[in-house]
Amino acid sequence: MKIICAENYQEMSEKAAAMIAAQVIMKPQAVLGLATGSTPIGTYRQLIQWYNEGKLDFSQVTGINLDEYRGLTGDHPQSYRYFMQRHFYDYVNIDPARTYVPDGADPDAERACRNYDQILREAGGIDLQLLGIGLDGHIGFNEPGENFIGETHCVKLTDSTLAANSRFFSEGEQMPREAYTLGIRGILQAGKVLMLADGRDKADILQQAFRGPVTPRVPASILQLHPDFTLIGDKEALRMLLS
Ligand code: F6R
Repeated sequence: MKIICAENYQEMSEKAAAMIAAQVIMKPQAVLGLATGSTPIGTYRQLIQWYNEGKLDFSQVTGINLDEYRGLTGDHPQSYRYFMQRHFYDYVNIDPARTYVPDGADPDAERACRNYDQILREAGGIDLQLLGIGLDGHIGFNEPGENFIGETHCVKLTDSTLAANSRFFSEGEQMPREAYTLGIRGILQAGKVLMLADGRDKADILQQAFRGPVTPRVPASILQLHPDFTLIGDKEALRMLLS
């Protein structure tokens, strides 16, 4: 595991974008595993800037997202499909047919999840997986539990995740309580895994995940076993891990 400490959010985002850019330059047909949430927004912004400057070409890239709320269609402003369009895909030359997000509109969880695993298999797996981390240690929406679940599956979001993500939903709006997420196997099989974390409130969970035991109670802890795992954090997020 490599830990890279950035001065602030901006520097963390630039370093992460540089790693993704290197992946796309080395392999133009790269399969990128992508995340939503507030953490990677600056990374996407930097990638868009380099694309606009003619430094990057996404025309052969495939994007496979981690997760989606069950019950939201892609045009819902809080859906992760919508997020990806608004923060990244609408601004670069990626082929829309090669961008994937689990189908939150499919009420048949089993079918939606098996279809997504099939997409992952057909893409040949992920070259570089970008991740954030939840305050409860989730990666994708693999929430703390008794076991690690390998395949794409439907999860009940924990109270901690519901509380953290409710900020994105307007008052009175019903927030979905379930999501479809790539499983731990899909994430661990990625050639490289890149986690980003910023801010003081992530310090404690990072310490638990990467200084504590590997346990499904802290799903991110499994990344200790990945052969090419990099964590880029700002000083605030890494303050306990590096002390
Ligand atoms: C998002 C995802 C989640 C987030 C995590 C952190 O696709 O899979 O695991 O990475 O909830 O979210 P933020 O970045 O908003 O703190």
